[in-house]
Amino acid sequence: MAEPTILGILASGRGSNLQSIIESIRSEKLPARVGVVVSDKPDANALKRAAELSLPAICVDRKQYPSQQEFEQEIIKQLQLHQIDLVVLAGFMRILSPFFVHAFANRIMNIHPSLLPAFPGKNAQEQAIRYGAKISGCTVHFVDEGMDSGPIILQQAVPVLPEDTPESLAARILEQEHQIYPQAIKFYVENKLRIEGRKVIIDQGND
Ligand code: GAR
Repeated sequence: MAEPTILGILASGRGSNLQSIIESIRSEKLPARVGVVVSDKPDANALKRAAELSLPAICVDRKQYPSQQEFEQEIIKQLQLHQIDLVVLAGFMRILSPFFVHAFANRIMNIHPSLLPAFPGKNAQEQAIRYGAKISGCTVHFVDEGMDSGPIILQQAVPVLPEDTPESLAARILEQEHQIYPQAIKFYVENKLRIEGRKVIIDQGND
């Protein structure tokens, strides 16, 4: 049998997407293995979750590195050490430079809490509410050199309700994030994704 795809998960905060990916792996819905969890924040809950689940987890604290490139070099080193096939950004709140993106070209995924290209960047849910959008959602995409601009793999829409706060909308979107992120990774590990320019073609053929 082929070796499972090895994921390197980068997370800065709560780690609920990390958790949902791990649950998909453990329930054998997602044929992959987590090689390492990397956080840029020493106090990230994602690191605690990883430790509870006995996964290799390390902190690469930006403050400990004189430059962005040296910081990214250390993350790349750790990912290579753990023989990562796919880099999964799960609430990783830093923009990665072209240097990092080129090191894993077309092998980095991100999840963003809006229907891109609407509302990129920070506070996407608040942006959607302020704008008066009636529908928002989440997007899984490959990472390119821009911010939240890479080819889109999967999206899921949710309604924005008149009484929504950023928190209530975020919770509705998060439920969908936990569905589509493991699904997008599954397509990747099953070799069903092909990038053609801006488009990601999903091979929906025989399972
Ligand atoms: C998620 O809503 C994710 O989409 C968002 O941060 C949250 C992380 O939650 N990511 C971004 O906004 C990236 N620009 P989690 O730590 O519980 O997975």
